[in-house]
Order: sequence, then C-alpha cells, then structure tokens
Amino acid sequence: MNKKIAVIGAGNVGATCAMYLAEANLADIVLVDILEGIPQGKALDLTQAGPVRGYNCMVTGSNNMKDIKGADIVIMTAGLPRKPGMTREDLLNKNADIVGSVAREIKKHAPKAYVIVVSNPLDLMTYHMQKETGFEPKRVLGQAGVLDSTRFRAFVAMELGVAMTDVQAMVLGGHGDTMVPLPRYTTVGGIPIGELIEKDRIKAISERTAGGGGEIVKLLKTGSAFYAPAAASVDMCRSIFCDEKKVLAASAHLTGQYGIKDIYIGVPVVLGAGGVEKILELKLSKAELGSLQKSAATYKEHLKIMGY
Ligand code: LAC
Repeated sequence: MNKKIAVIGAGNVGATCAMYLAEANLADIVLVDILEGIPQGKALDLTQAGPVRGYNCMVTGSNNMKDIKGADIVIMTAGLPRKPGMTREDLLNKNADIVGSVAREIKKHAPKAYVIVVSNPLDLMTYHMQKETGFEPKRVLGQAGVLDSTRFRAFVAMELGVAMTDVQAMVLGGHGDTMVPLPRYTTVGGIPIGELIEKDRIKAISERTAGGGGEIVKLLKTGSAFYAPAAASVDMCRSIFCDEKKVLAASAHLTGQYGIKDIYIGVPVVLGAGGVEKILELKLSKAELGSLQKSAATYKEHLKIMGY
C-alpha cells in the first residue's frame, strides 16, 4: 500500500490500535517503541493473523523513529499509564518528556502528518505535541471525547437493554474528572434519553462515565483501558484518512470558542482530510458552559507548570 500510518508505543493501546487498523486494511502500519523486540514481535504476530483475518497491509515494528518517514497519520500512545489511585495529571512530568521527544522526531521524519495524541494527561499532552511539532493546530488533535462518548453510549445501552450502536452521545470537556457528559445531546434511535431514563439514573450514568477510565484502572491494577481507547483512536484516524467528515468529540485547539482561548479541550468537531475541519459551538446551558470553562481553567494552571 502506498499510504502509511505510524503508531508510537507498542503497549496495550498501541498494539490494539495496530490490530484495529490492520483489520480496517487502510494503509501499511509501522509500530514503534523503544523496547527492543516488542514492536517487531507484535508486528510479525499481526502480519501472521492477516491471512485468517483477511487483510493485506504490511505491519512492521521498529525501534527507530526514522521508520515513520512519510507517515500520513501518527497515533501517539507512548507514555506511562495510570496505576490505581493516580489521576491522569499525576503522569504529567514523565509523559511530557516522552511526548516532547517524540514530537521532535515526528517533525523531522513525518512533517506532513496528522497527529492523534492518546497519551495522558490527554489535553495537556496534545497541547504539548502541537507546540513541539509546530504543526498547524488542525493537524494535531487528542483522542478522548470519542472514548468518553462511547463509554456513555455503552452505559445507556446497558441501562435500556438496546443496541449500543443505536445510542448517540456527546461528552465534552477535559479527559478527566471534569468531563461534561451532555444527556441533552444523547439519543437512542433519535429519542432523547430524558424521555427514556429517569433523571437520577442519568446522573448516575454520567458519573460512571466520568470515572470510566478509573473504574477500569482499579479492576486491572496493572494498567489502564485499551480496547475502547484504541477503538476510539482508530475511528478518528479513519475519519481523517478516508475524509469521512464524522462529527466527533475530540480535544481540539480553541481560539475563543466557548469563551476559551489557546487550550486543547474536548469539543465537537468535524474530522476530515483537513484534520479538524470545523469546531462546532453548541448552545450550552450555564451549568454546562461553567463546567467546560472550569475544566479549561484547571488546564491553564497545569500548562503554566509545564512552562507555557
Ligand atoms: C482511559 C484512559 C486511557 O480513560 O485515559 O481509559
């Protein structure tokens, strides 16, 4: 294939992204990690699944960032995951170093790439990636809203006993405890959930969504979620790669929308061949807007600590 997608980090999220990407059969895939043998081994294993799973793309592994050369899209998953009891922000210093060094390599070897950041703390790492690569902000975005929304969708479907794919949801804000699930914009087969689920249950489902990542960290004990994060990343990647123009929640660079400036945070966007082609501004209630702006204010503080 003459198109290439690079996945940085061959841990659980990176390897699962490579698997979903291979199954989508869109482009050749290069999986890069600093651990010797791990990306090569996983890539070979994925290649050998191809004849059975029905894909023909090439999957290769490498310890050298030079091998991302010419990548159309880079999915950045490298970084430490949370341990039980940790917030995503506890990972700030270590992951900022990793994201910074990867960003400089992306700039060197894949200067035309679109970059989807998955490393935590998500919104801050996406900001850091954009600054370090110097790429136009619409080419650098963070994966969180699709993940938070898919969790919300799954919980709503579980509550009602209906098809998960029939539930559409929107979760905005930072990828953390301050995220803002929007039940008003959540529907089942076009029906707003307010007509189907009692208020207190909607509140409980929203709270479970906000703590959704932490619930899995607590269960796994040795790492964080990866199937849903990878599925969400590949959905975004595909919308850009195939110019699908999906309307998704993503961490995007705001320039005054929602009264927020120069920060990355989760908002509804149109994703197509131009990257973040449009940021949609919803009419939020006072409380919803307040939560979004509170999320943003917290990030401003963190960015100051990072030297921005
Ligand atoms: C989660 C992590 C990956 O929400 O941020 O599962």
